[in-house]
Amino acid sequence: MKPEGRRRTAVGRRPRTGSSLQSPVSSLPVVMAFTGASGAPYGIRLLRALLESDRDVWLIVSEHGLRLLRTETDVHDVAGLRRAVGPGRFDSRATLFDDGDRGARPASGSAITAGMVICPCSMGTLASIAAGTSRSLVERAADVTLKERRPLVLVTRETPLSAIHLENMLRVTRAGAVVLPAAPGFYHRPKRIEQLVDFVVARVLDHLRVEHTLEKRWGGR
Ligand SMILES: Cc1cc2nc3c(=O)[nH]c(=O)nc-3n(C[C@H](O)[C@H](O)[C@H](O)COP(=O)(O)O)c2cc1C
Repeated sequence: MKPEGRRRTAVGRRPRTGSSLQSPVSSLPVVMAFTGASGAPYGIRLLRALLESDRDVWLIVSEHGLRLLRTETDVHDVAGLRRAVGPGRFDSRATLFDDGDRGARPASGSAITAGMVICPCSMGTLASIAAGTSRSLVERAADVTLKERRPLVLVTRETPLSAIHLENMLRVTRAGAVVLPAAPGFYHRPKRIEQLVDFVVARVLDHLRVEHTLEKRWGGR
């Protein structure tokens, strides 16, 4: 899954640059990364929901993020991802960045964004963020998001959790991140996998302050 160029979108459009401190949050791009945890369908659904909400998305896919997309879904490359989320919206709203390019715009705090979500987020990437290593664009963009005090949502998936995982979760939470495990509830009595996926994605959108109608909110019973 190769981006076509550092400052161009996956389909060759020059990305919008209008991010400034004055921009309303809803007009700022959301940085979104797929990493190598199980849960690629959550990521695809989230990307589609963000694009359907007319949000610009700066997209990064780690090597193992792509591996998990291939393993768990019919998406094998960027063309497949584009098809899965809707080609029209992808072309006009998504910008793909190379995970190896730590000089790309998401690597700088001067590029204003609405925040970042990593969905799914591996324990490896969680550990790197907790340690502040910044050895890939995903890690660096997350580090920048924290230092700029912007929302960072980590949709983790691993079970069971070791003391190292738990300590890393505590560490990033103390630094300002939201650890949002891919753990759907069952109180809405889901019948289909899509409902379980939507349950988690709805929580993520809530934390990114993106309006949605993915699932009914609990009204008490
Ligand atoms: C089929 C498969 C499933 C995996 N599932 C998980 C998982 O659920 N959670 C996790 O933390 N790592 C999982 N891994 C391991 C990560 O992919 C691996 O640690 C990788 O180095 C993460 O790299 P990244 O965070 O840069 O994408 C899985 C690997 C494979 C091949």
